[in-house]
Amino acid sequence: MDPSSKRLLSDDGSRRRRSQDSDSDIDVTEHLRPKSTATSTQPAFLGGPRPGPFSSLRRPFKGRSRCCVIVTCVLLGLWAILSAGGAVFYTKYKEAPPTGESPPWYPAPKGGTLKSWADSYKKAADMVSRMTLPEKVNITTGTGWRMGLAVGTTGPALHVGFPQLQLQDGPLGIRFADNATAWPAGITTGATFNKELFYLRGKGHGLETRQKGIHVLLGPCVGPLGRMPAGGRNWEGFGSDPYLQGIAAAETIKGVQDQGVMATIKHFVANEQEHFRQSWEWGLPNALSANIDDRTLHELYAWPFADSIRAGVASVMCSYNMVNNSYACDNSKLMNGILKDEMGFQGFVMSDWLAQRSGVGSALAGLDMTMPGDGLFWEDGKSLWGGELSRAVLNGSVPVDRLNDMVVRIVAAWYQLGQDNKELYPEELPNFSSWTNEKMGVLAPGSKTPQEESEVNQYVQVLLPHKDLARQVAAEGTVLLKNEGVLPISRDGLVGIEQKKLHDGKLKVGVFGEDAGPGKGPNYCKDRGCNQGTLAEGWGSGSAEFPYLITPAESLKREFDEDKVTITEHLDNKLDYYKRNPSVLAEQDICFVFANSDGGEGFLAWGSVGGDRNDLSLQKGGDDLIEHVVEKCGNGNGDTVVVIHSVGPVDMERWIELPRVKAVLYANLPGQESGDALAELIFGDMNPNGKLPYTIAKSLKDYGEGGQIMYLPNGVVPQQDFKEGLYIDYRHFDKYNIEPRFEFGFGLSYTTFQFSNVKVKSVKDKSPLPSPRPAASAEPPTFDESIPDPEEALWPSDLRRLERYNYPYLDSVDDIKQDPYPYPEGYDVAQALSQAGGDQGGNPDLWETYVTVTVDVTNTGPVAGKVVPQLYLSYPDTEPEIDFPVRVLRGFEKFNLEKGEKKSVSFDLTRRDLSYWDVVQQNWVMVTSGQYSFAVGQSSRDLPVVAKW
Ligand code: BGC
Repeated sequence: MDPSSKRLLSDDGSRRRRSQDSDSDIDVTEHLRPKSTATSTQPAFLGGPRPGPFSSLRRPFKGRSRCCVIVTCVLLGLWAILSAGGAVFYTKYKEAPPTGESPPWYPAPKGGTLKSWADSYKKAADMVSRMTLPEKVNITTGTGWRMGLAVGTTGPALHVGFPQLQLQDGPLGIRFADNATAWPAGITTGATFNKELFYLRGKGHGLETRQKGIHVLLGPCVGPLGRMPAGGRNWEGFGSDPYLQGIAAAETIKGVQDQGVMATIKHFVANEQEHFRQSWEWGLPNALSANIDDRTLHELYAWPFADSIRAGVASVMCSYNMVNNSYACDNSKLMNGILKDEMGFQGFVMSDWLAQRSGVGSALAGLDMTMPGDGLFWEDGKSLWGGELSRAVLNGSVPVDRLNDMVVRIVAAWYQLGQDNKELYPEELPNFSSWTNEKMGVLAPGSKTPQEESEVNQYVQVLLPHKDLARQVAAEGTVLLKNEGVLPISRDGLVGIEQKKLHDGKLKVGVFGEDAGPGKGPNYCKDRGCNQGTLAEGWGSGSAEFPYLITPAESLKREFDEDKVTITEHLDNKLDYYKRNPSVLAEQDICFVFANSDGGEGFLAWGSVGGDRNDLSLQKGGDDLIEHVVEKCGNGNGDTVVVIHSVGPVDMERWIELPRVKAVLYANLPGQESGDALAELIFGDMNPNGKLPYTIAKSLKDYGEGGQIMYLPNGVVPQQDFKEGLYIDYRHFDKYNIEPRFEFGFGLSYTTFQFSNVKVKSVKDKSPLPSPRPAASAEPPTFDESIPDPEEALWPSDLRRLERYNYPYLDSVDDIKQDPYPYPEGYDVAQALSQAGGDQGGNPDLWETYVTVTVDVTNTGPVAGKVVPQLYLSYPDTEPEIDFPVRVLRGFEKFNLEKGEKKSVSFDLTRRDLSYWDVVQQNWVMVTSGQYSFAVGQSSRDLPVVAKW
């Protein structure tokens, strides 16, 4: 094939971004001339240098002086020796096993076994069969960190018309993008308990993502699940319950993918804390190992991934950590066994950024795409794949059919989302750069090789249509935790649902605390890596630039009628200020006090908060401020409304029971519409209807041992044993009968609801096991499996190399031998197909409804409002006894009820909802003796009606 006869996807898009005038700027359509059989598959601007290998020690040394670094190094050395010794004791001489303790599962199941993907696989197979070896490798390997405009970019297969895929974070907005919506975070979205909003938010986000030229969105996030309330990234997901996470993720994915964007469900799996999540980031050579038993994995941590796969997600991101002492991205049991066999995943598995820790090993274990494509260290230009994958295929250590499967999975996902349609993706590159806000810039800033500038930012406006939706999600995701007559307050100063006038004259309202105001601006810290001003996102790759941020102080000032209400603001947390100016509190009738608690991803630290929070306390003196305001507001006679913004639960014990704390609004992380969303609830435009997506305890220790972050490593390879098994969050509180401050699912309304008339309708008979796994509904494509001519992988002579850019080529193929390869232990043991499998998400019978529960709900209070009936299932007693949680969430709905109105709501329970994972049978098992009970109500501890089945 003559490559010069092929053109880039969009001449227009590509050319505009390249230099117009230099001969170092190579137009691929003219410069990719074949040399012998070797053909270039890269656009010609590639290459590039980056920081040295230890640049990944980013967190510990960031911003430190040289002396401090030396002292730290010495201490670290001592500490490493001590901790290594400790590790020996801890593990009783057991080193991290070289091949891990996770069971082997080989070979990787092939994609293309399902009818729902058959057309896409057919088209993909046709394309892949025409690709050269370097083209195939290109599609699997990222070009490197900062070696493209997005946070991840794959190489193209130019000659067959497959583009470079552009991958961008993330779960709440388009990271590093301008003019795009900063949506409420996952945790806020989870708190809406509103399936329609899950979908619509996803759809809005997906549309913007496509309009910015991104093919693969790196979200939603369901891992961490929320085992530890102080976990730094819990806020990226939807709450500490697998059922809630699963539904929220599936609806989000449908929304995103309905817009033609590939969604990525992440991080698979058990990346529950930030400390030690990743090699080198925390000074240790290895990431921690999350040690999980099979049942817990299925019933908690992998559960929402199954829902995501069932929703057709295009991609799964494997996590940084090890699972059972084998890196998640090198773990054949997880990727081959669980994702691809049991859950029937047809898309591709991509690594988290540098989570791939072996080349051949990860390929055999089921990894399909390495991101960002670098090797063991950031920007090292030593990809574990790229040229090395070409070599591994040529010498027979990675079977050709494994490479074909990786590639066809990626290309099939592209077709499945309709991305071959040029109307969806008219341009080749994103229309913004992650690395500069300037209009002009280079395409691979990670490379030191000089490059011509082109227009990298077009400032395309995509956010406008989504303002109202973003506000609605933020408002519905705000939880009213306490209300003793003060809310709502009308714009003209009437108080409480009875709209009382407190006195003649104007109502005096004060707004207190830094968290109510703008601080130094919403994007003051990169990736939101500090806590200042009002908190509306957590930090890290899951954050986005705010196009604007409406602060609570701004909304309240704008909305109150100035003829009837005097509003003043004091956006300060320092008690000194209030002591010096006592009248600012003394003169108020009502005081709104704002406080917050922030956390984020482990590559950034804010002061001593290294991603995971250090505790559940309010930050920046929030507790002191609240106490002071409560004490002094109206000279001790005023009413205080506390507003909390937080990445997760906070400890409220110092003030929650104070009688003059009249109301508490828990606004989570509301995104750009923060102030207006809050105002809607305060003014009663919307009746509060958010519910807690986690438990708020009276103390951090109440979450149990499993709820505590490991802040100090317990060995060279830290071992985190998930000994609590199924008992996280409310399951733990229920099992040990611990009284939470506010239970999972709790949230007040300005009205009241009554539940009655519960009915159970059996739809199918109980039976222990799902129907046998159905046969594959499609045949995976077949390809020529002979090892290609090594010459194909040689560097094309005409390609300008960018330093440290990842290419699929080799300098020489003279040393390539095809000796027998020592495949991993267990490689030749045939695996029986899982009976829990058979379709996307698992055995289709798992998704069949077996019983329906119906309940009547009546609005018995003074105003209209949305109700969230929640169904919790308790398993029957069994003989012999099986350990079950007291109750598990298995249904929720949300709908409006006018004052006095009654509606009936139904919950369909599927086989999976009714089953537990039996580790012996390796299948989901329904209990057929005894009776299930279904309790319905407004929270995990307010369940007035119960039915048996
Ligand atoms: C995060 C991922 C993210 C990736 C790319 C990693 O540090 O864990 O969630 O998608 O970076 O930014």
